[in-house]
Amino acid sequence: MRTVHTLKELRAMLRGFRQQGKRIGLVPTMGNLHEGHISLVRKAREAADIVVTSIFVNPMQFGATEDLDTYPRTLIEDQERLEAAGSTLVFAPSNDEIYPQGLARHTRVIVPEASEGHCGASRPGHFEGVATVVTMLFNMVQPDIAVFGEKDYQQLAVIRKLTRDLMIPVEVIGSPTVREGDGLAKSSRNGFLTEDERVIAPIIYRTLKNTAEQIRSGRTDFATLEQEANEALSEAGLRPDYFNIANSLTLKPASPDDSELTLLVAAFLGTTRLIDNLSITR
Ligand code: PAJ
Repeated sequence: MRTVHTLKELRAMLRGFRQQGKRIGLVPTMGNLHEGHISLVRKAREAADIVVTSIFVNPMQFGATEDLDTYPRTLIEDQERLEAAGSTLVFAPSNDEIYPQGLARHTRVIVPEASEGHCGASRPGHFEGVATVVTMLFNMVQPDIAVFGEKDYQQLAVIRKLTRDLMIPVEVIGSPTVREGDGLAKSSRNGFLTEDERVIAPIIYRTLKNTAEQIRSGRTDFATLEQEANEALSEAGLRPDYFNIANSLTLKPASPDDSELTLLVAAFLGTTRLIDNLSITR
């Protein structure tokens, strides 16, 4: 496995693979890799001959008060895990390589509708940053397939839409959320939790499952269910940002006759913001 830091080196490597007729897979990440990320690399490996994993903590998708500066950067450990998982190439560019003229003067990709509500409402500009950097990664790597986690459900919807709308010839593959034994979705941000917070955190997935159970047993009073879920999170010591019951395809508020529903949640535990979701078919 090789690690390259510049677009020039990346293109030179990819040219060689393409000449050999290899199918190229891309797994975009921000590093500090855990089993969730690694599962994406394995999935990409099944669908492609070579896998490019990008590691770039994208400043454009962080708000001014968010954790850009403290976001964990662990390139050496990440490289070891990626090599073991079968990644062929790591692309770890600097900020200057991606945004040579700075953020303010950079072209941006806006994805209407999919970016609205949920995390889009609480993190203004976040999905613009994600959409922009993912479009750039698609253009830089020109992969046949790209794998993203269902853990970030709205992000996956944004990326599927931009790929369709901008006619980017890449197959976007979603991959299931990898969890800890107690149900907590694996996340680079779990490392920010104190011991006490880590004990509380699995309530997020339990609340998702409880609410799903209520819906399966016939309840359609979604606003009340959302309120009950928010209360359960607050009582456990979290500060819910949102708990939404949405139509899985449109991500708009669910209506009682929708059959595919997704429950989306974001909540603060101390200063750490955690997200999770659960899809159900009725
Ligand atoms: P990051 O948070 O590093 O996540 C990289 C990829 O790993 C995303 O597709 C995310 O959905 C997936 N992922 C994270 N935790 C997961 C889990 N527990 N199970 C399965 N998949 C998981 O998401 C980003 O980076 C960035 O926004 C990015 C797409 C790289 C653009 O900058």
